[in-house]
Amino acid sequence: MKNIGIIGGTGYTGRELARILSVHPEVRITAMTSRQNAGTEVSDLQPNLKGYVNLKFTENIPDSADVDLVFTATPHGASMKQIPSLMEQGIKTVDLSGDYRFKDRKVYEKWYGFEHTDPENIPKAVYGLPEFYRKEIADAALVANPGCYATSAILAITPLVNTGLVEGSIFVDGKSGTSGAGMNPSPRLHHPACGESVIPYGIGTHRHTPEIEAVVKDVTSEDADVFFVPHLIPIVRGILSTCYAGLTEETTQEDIDEVYEKFYGKEFFVKYTEEPSIRSVVASNHAEVSAKVRGKNAVAMCALDNLVKGASGQAVQCMNIMLGFKETLGIGTPGLGV
Ligand SMILES: NC(=O)c1ccc[n+]([C@@H]2O[C@H](COP(=O)([O-])OP(=O)(O)OC[C@H]3O[C@@H](n4cnc5c(N)ncnc54)[C@H](OP(=O)(O)O)[C@@H]3O)[C@@H](O)[C@H]2O)c1
Repeated sequence: MKNIGIIGGTGYTGRELARILSVHPEVRITAMTSRQNAGTEVSDLQPNLKGYVNLKFTENIPDSADVDLVFTATPHGASMKQIPSLMEQGIKTVDLSGDYRFKDRKVYEKWYGFEHTDPENIPKAVYGLPEFYRKEIADAALVANPGCYATSAILAITPLVNTGLVEGSIFVDGKSGTSGAGMNPSPRLHHPACGESVIPYGIGTHRHTPEIEAVVKDVTSEDADVFFVPHLIPIVRGILSTCYAGLTEETTQEDIDEVYEKFYGKEFFVKYTEEPSIRSVVASNHAEVSAKVRGKNAVAMCALDNLVKGASGQAVQCMNIMLGFKETLGIGTPGLGV
């Protein structure tokens, strides 16, 4: 049994980590932090965990928790304050924020708008998308878990970009449930504002844009110019990204199917399907991907649960790899379907 700590245990991703890990056969949660709820029973705040997690929130991870691995489920800017000490203590860490996702600190500072205070640990971080970085994750001390929209767009477009046929910008139309914004309320997230609406935001300026471009380039060695338009939709969980691209020449559907099958045919969590659906993947670590071509145009799509394959499920997938467990342990269940 390995001991696990969660920093940021009251947030949506921290709760989801606790839900998943509470029934994982090889780990036990020995600490969950919350500065605002220290001393409160976890199950008093999160009744779905009653009988599964018998712990009180603490302000920090206590020595008595004897942790083997920590998840930092904290906002960007907060994670980089926690991680230096975890690295110094030799504690493996999976960070769910954007703080360590960029190899180039300047790109981070430009898109996130403030200085990175822990540049020493940036080179240690491995991008936590197992389908593309499985080997590196196995040896990593620090994993930078991908963004939710970024995971969906990267899974959708990487095989297409890898053909070398993409010409011009790729327009990524991302639609997300409101849990993607975390638990802090804002006018846009108030039910009357978003409950029966679809709201575009951060048009062309969202922070996942450079993350998508950098990872696609790293995996394919091809440049991808991404124009990303995220939308809030009136559901709690789930993302559907629809990505439009022009091609330099006509290609057939059979050729495209072959490209995607080559990428994902052996992957348990990424399924190449006809019509991806949020309903089909919600509450699971699965992503559904499809790609269609007509003439010199292509559309690639990906559906996933932002809190699972887009965050906590993928983080546990990385943890399994880092701790030498079977990659699917504790997360190998299907989506809800209805
Ligand atoms: N929501 C998603 O779908 C999603 C998907 C992928 C990635 N992410 C990323 O995952 C991280 C967590 O997201 P979330 O949606 O779970 O956020 P959230 O709901 O806002 O929760 C943040 C958590 O961090 C704690 N926290 C806040 N500031 C802190 C600080 N300075 N030091 C220590 N703890 C602090 C909060 O508890 P206290 O204030 O009580 O300490 C809370 O438990 C973010 O970086 C987010 O971008 C989120």
